[in-house]
Amino acid sequence: MKYEAILLAAGSGKRMESEENKVFLELGNRAILSYSIDLFLADEKCVHLILVGKTSEMSELKKLVPQSKKAVSFVVGGSERQYSVYAGVKAIKNDENAILVHDGARPFVRKEQIDDLCLALEENHAVLLGVPVKDTIKSVFNKKVAKTVPREALYGAQTPQMIRGQMFYQGHLWAEEDDFLGTDDVSLVEEYFPEATIEMVNGSYENIKLTTPEDLILGEAILNNKRAKGEE
Ligand code: CTP
Ligand code: MG
Repeated sequence: MKYEAILLAAGSGKRMESEENKVFLELGNRAILSYSIDLFLADEKCVHLILVGKTSEMSELKKLVPQSKKAVSFVVGGSERQYSVYAGVKAIKNDENAILVHDGARPFVRKEQIDDLCLALEENHAVLLGVPVKDTIKSVFNKKVAKTVPREALYGAQTPQMIRGQMFYQGHLWAEEDDFLGTDDVSLVEEYFPEATIEMVNGSYENIKLTTPEDLILGEAILNNKRAKGEE
């Protein structure tokens, strides 16, 4: 299935506590964002790469994109992640294509995982990568443990997430009308299309979102391990 990719880089990376937007920080001599840019440019199923950035960082963003025959667009994001995604959705060329959304702060997604998502989307309305949670999860109110939540059914959601184009566009229109803010992309499908099927596709524990400073240490280790295996 062909898709248009929305790659998000319009956050400010507050929790990373660095001067610069974290997606521009270097990991193994390349900007964190470059890993996903290069992956989508190389994937023949990706027919359009939409980069979402801040106005003040557009020129820096453009420098990370090598010459390519692929259609590439640059759009300005918003104050919330979902608004940045919506800005990307408005730049879609053809809503018959699937839409893929990916966090620029996740450099370790692999081509095979995108292939898995595309395959799963043939049979579903939306798909996402995720991993079973490892910790025991407690629900807590006012610091008092209410109960232990059974873990079998719990997955941590990652990106990429893929949704059929028309459905995702409609979901964003309704979310705008309602002021509905979801925590991820498929949550718009959960909210507005209760009949839709959304499949959880196996992600990997390597596909972390670089969020806080210690994630950079972990990121270096993951990168070194991938290089040792010849994956990078
Ligand atoms: N993002 C975006 N527009 C926003 C907020 C986030 O494009 N208004 C992007 C970020 O650039 C990042 C991804 O969404 O690639 C995931 O968000 P997150 O990890 O929360 O990044 P930031 O919002 O930049 O970080 P923080 O929440 O710590 O400020
Ligand atoms: Mg954020």
